[in-house]
Amino acid sequence: MAHRWKNDLSAADVTPQQMFLNRRQIMAGALGLGAFGAAGAAKAQDDLQPNTWEEITSYNNYYEFGTGKDDPAKNAHALDLTDWVIEVDGLVDNPGTYTVADLTSGLTEEERIYRFRCVEAWAMVIPWNGFELADILSAVGVQAGATHVAFETAVQPDNMPGVRRGVLDFPYREGLRLDEAMHPLTMMATGIYGEPMPKQNGAPIRLVVPWKYGFKSIKSIVRITLTDKQPYATWNAINAREYGFYSNVNPEVDHPRWSQATERLIGGGLFAARQDTLMFNGYDEVASLYDGMDLRANY
Ligand code: MTE
Repeated sequence: MAHRWKNDLSAADVTPQQMFLNRRQIMAGALGLGAFGAAGAAKAQDDLQPNTWEEITSYNNYYEFGTGKDDPAKNAHALDLTDWVIEVDGLVDNPGTYTVADLTSGLTEEERIYRFRCVEAWAMVIPWNGFELADILSAVGVQAGATHVAFETAVQPDNMPGVRRGVLDFPYREGLRLDEAMHPLTMMATGIYGEPMPKQNGAPIRLVVPWKYGFKSIKSIVRITLTDKQPYATWNAINAREYGFYSNVNPEVDHPRWSQATERLIGGGLFAARQDTLMFNGYDEVASLYDGMDLRANY
């Protein structure tokens, strides 16, 4: 079957989504935009169309802003992005407090912003842009002995109604094994459709792990810790039977309360056919990370 994404999309591979292009044309007067200015939906898939900006930004999970799918769009405007910094600590050569610009200062503009990746996850196809997590891990220097990477989301009780109500054990936390974190598919996304990341989608910077279920892709990151232990992960801690640490997309392992063998794309319409869920969401090149592991036991 046709690949659902490309790992090496560049501005040359992208075609503008009509709405996005129209908006940019209005903003930029239609002229004087470089190739990146018109960068929009990736045409990586022959078989899948990216969701619209409207769909991507109005149907979200971000429990800090409420548990309803429309709560993040309603409430996330309160997220305060002022002086956003990321604490990098643990088993690293250069621990410290960094801005996103600090962390990416060694990258070219292309590497820093324009790693478009059209990722189908959580029943949506989203053209993320950003950079590879591996690039910043290399920049801070991972020490021998580190086996995992842990991530934490900001906690702003004054701005986050879900935090005030304590709907989860905040801060939201997630983790990856180091080899998963270093895989070129693992992305720190800073935008969608070439626009800065909307707050409801995890501004200013969030993780995107395309071969895993959506809850691994932690939003609005303020801490990255290199560690020698499997990190605490929010949903895994709440209900380990339903949410394994690995959380690789796997049609053969059902969620205890529903089958994961098929999925229906959001925006496909009520009568859209369900499609088969693919192992690793179709990203076969990550299979070798799990050689010799029982992926039913390590779900
Ligand atoms: N990150 C934080 N901090 N809080 C959350 O509630 N929800 C996760 C993940 N990251 C979540 C989070 C879940 S369950 C999903 S499906 C995705 O974000 C949704 O990302 P999207 O709203 O951009 O599609």
